[in-house]
Amino acid sequence: MEEKSFVDPRPPFAGLGAKAPETLFGALPTPCYILDEACLLQNGRLLAGLSERTGCKILLAQKAFSNYDLYPLLSPYLAGTEASGLYEARLGREEMPGGEVHVFSAAYRKDEFEELLLYADHIVFNSPRQLARFGPRAKAAGKSVGLRVNPRCSTQEGHALYDPCAPGSRLGVTRAAWDAAMTPELVSLLDGLHFHTLCEQDADALEVTLAAVERDFGDVLARMKWLNMGGGHHITRPGYRIGLLEKCIRAAREKWGVQVYLEPGEACALNAGYLAARVLDFVENGGITTAILDASAACHMPDVLEMPYRPPLYGDGEGDGYPFSYRLAGPTCLSGDVIGDYRFASPLKENQLLLFGDMAIYTTCKNNTFNGMPLPAIFLWKVNHSLLPLASFGYTDFKERLGSGRPLSFSGGSSESAQLDPGFGKK
Ligand SMILES: Cc1ncc(COP(=O)(O)O)c(C=O)c1O
Repeated sequence: MEEKSFVDPRPPFAGLGAKAPETLFGALPTPCYILDEACLLQNGRLLAGLSERTGCKILLAQKAFSNYDLYPLLSPYLAGTEASGLYEARLGREEMPGGEVHVFSAAYRKDEFEELLLYADHIVFNSPRQLARFGPRAKAAGKSVGLRVNPRCSTQEGHALYDPCAPGSRLGVTRAAWDAAMTPELVSLLDGLHFHTLCEQDADALEVTLAAVERDFGDVLARMKWLNMGGGHHITRPGYRIGLLEKCIRAAREKWGVQVYLEPGEACALNAGYLAARVLDFVENGGITTAILDASAACHMPDVLEMPYRPPLYGDGEGDGYPFSYRLAGPTCLSGDVIGDYRFASPLKENQLLLFGDMAIYTTCKNNTFNGMPLPAIFLWKVNHSLLPLASFGYTDFKERLGSGRPLSFSGGSSESAQLDPGFGKK
């Protein structure tokens, strides 16, 4: 396979056109993330079309993608942002200022709640207890108040880590818990209900889930202003059944008269980014050749180990045309810092550039500096094919998360509690 004439047509690499990664990105320092502006725009347009046709409002779930330099690009297509707590709520308010800010947290903190009220428009609680504790204050501040429900409907198998409906889940109020704790006063605080039960799923799973929501909470929904159907909708994936999603949204609107919200993370930035890495070395053991890269699964693509999954790699394939097998792995001390096993048309070479696909989501917002690994720089590959550096990191970013070496002021605690050493930080 001659790389220059090779075109990888798979969705994670469709944005590259007929250009080889080395030609496009060979000048960049590795490892680095490259966000693809054209693909982000394409996702934005698709989501905006859905909103226009159905009247639903779509929020960016920032936990998946919070590269805020791109918020101005995405904001014309979205109604706002979704946050998991104070910092994301503030980021959404600051960086997508015209949009709504919705927040859901499994539990809010008393010492953060007043500040949260400055940023959030919708506040979704996870339990009747938290609703009782903070709901009246949120309401008095003019916020739209919601409760997350758990429709006890698992639509994915063998994936408890990502299944909020797994047995014993702490996420969302079941109907039994509702019946046990929801007084008329608490119900009167509510403007809407929220559920999030899907993960990288199609609209058929939503259809099944909606029937379960209706079974458990249909009577309540008739009294609500909005229904937030969470994330996990893989709307921008090729072949996604968008017609069925539209049917689900319209059915909810017609049945309960609610404003429907969706808060996808993945779908906003799906297949809209890459991680570029180079081969540092090869190691042979037991018939397996491992290529050690300057990128790490554990540090730079943690979902590869957490989910786990094998990320798409430009130019890998199956069958007779791909006779050269390698295990790709990171340079850290972790034995399991393995990205996956891949097959190539020609032998890998030292310093060769490798390009992993679909790397805009759950990467830059989730990476870490374990082993003192550098954080990859972030570039934007613009529609005009120029490359814009968005962020770069160095030793200080690693060091400053671990300490300061300076005296810090500390207030709080009682005379009984441990006291700071007055010499702390003095060198
Ligand atoms: C409450 C909530 N909303 C939205 C999302 C975004 O999900 P996804 O990125 O799979 O679309 C998540 C993901 O965990 C979530 O927990």
